[in-house]
Amino acid sequence: MQSIDDLEVQGKVVLVRSDLNTPLETSPDGAVSITDDGRIRAALPTISDLAARGARVVVMSHLGRPEGQVVPRLSLQPVAVRLGELLNAPVAFSPSTVGEQAQGVVAGLADGQVALLENLRFTEAETSKDDAARGAFADQLALLADIYVGDGFGVSHRKHASVYDIALRLPHAAGRLIASEVSVLQRLTRGDERPYVVVLGGSKVSDKLGVIETFLGKADRILIGGGMVYTFLAAMGYGVGSSLLEPDLVEQCRGYIAQAQSMGVDLVLPTDIVVADRFAGDAESTVVGVAAIPNDWMGLDIGPESAQKFAGALSDAATVFWNGPMGVFEFDAFASGTRAVAQAMASSSAFTVVGGGDSAAAVRHLGFADEQFGYISTGGGASLEYLEGRELPGLSVLEDKA
Ligand code: 3PG
Repeated sequence: MQSIDDLEVQGKVVLVRSDLNTPLETSPDGAVSITDDGRIRAALPTISDLAARGARVVVMSHLGRPEGQVVPRLSLQPVAVRLGELLNAPVAFSPSTVGEQAQGVVAGLADGQVALLENLRFTEAETSKDDAARGAFADQLALLADIYVGDGFGVSHRKHASVYDIALRLPHAAGRLIASEVSVLQRLTRGDERPYVVVLGGSKVSDKLGVIETFLGKADRILIGGGMVYTFLAAMGYGVGSSLLEPDLVEQCRGYIAQAQSMGVDLVLPTDIVVADRFAGDAESTVVGVAAIPNDWMGLDIGPESAQKFAGALSDAATVFWNGPMGVFEFDAFASGTRAVAQAMASSSAFTVVGGGDSAAAVRHLGFADEQFGYISTGGGASLEYLEGRELPGLSVLEDKA
């Protein structure tokens, strides 16, 4: 991939695709605030480098999944304000992504100035499966700029107009975030620093099938928690009450347990669970063994014995990859498992990688600093697909392999 260092950008309009898909909170009076600005911070090295070199930088991103509709609460306007604060410079905001209004905003930029376009997904063509529709939108985006820089690593697994088609239309390069994400994922793919421990959580096992299969052939130890663990517990014959369960995948999980055994991979499952009588922060809760989850109760975190076991399984690791929280960390009562894993990783001398928006938000929400980990990836689905060995359209197009 060509790097931004190879570009001559002085006085040029450079269109940068970032992933500024950032968690937002709307207060009762309608004010929108950003709850985790990690992805905005991660976009800064590319944007500030280009601006410092005299480019007119036009940043574009999606936010949420508005599915082609203009959804005011998914406007990128608050992100433009935060980006300006972090850059310590004003950021012009264009309420349109293409057309005269956007062209006017771009024309108003001086060398070294930055603008942000409105949410790309307010336009249906951005995510269309129809190549011609996407291409027509990419044609209009391309009219805004001289050069395209792909830097939205978190969205690089999507074949979208602003991620893929645009690079077929303009001279292009990869930004700094994509370069650093790829170098971390290459190190995880080589996996030669051992023991190699993988921690998987999050709600659905169906999102993790590919990654479980990949790591059964690569990791020394796989720790499983979060909502996905109940399908594994069901596969072991335990009742899981009203916990999250994907019944269609019980058989497949049974297969993974057998495969791990035959391949000599240590598949570590919890031995106790924090169960609650309902899904709420103030629910009644108690700790039970995995064999004793009451019928109408749901598991919302791994228990203290399991947290200790997981921390122990991380203590001698040389490489750790973690994707997905161990419980409903947003509620204090169910955050202990996630905190224990984060703490074990933070105190470890291993190369530790936190992958996925939820896990990154979890560690920050629990008060950990980014510097306590080897790397915090901005990519959820994108990181997993990369590790599964799948081709990511937003990366291959930058390698001109599209
Ligand atoms: C993410 O949050 O994983 C990326 O921003 C991609 O978002 P998407 O899953 O809605 O395409």
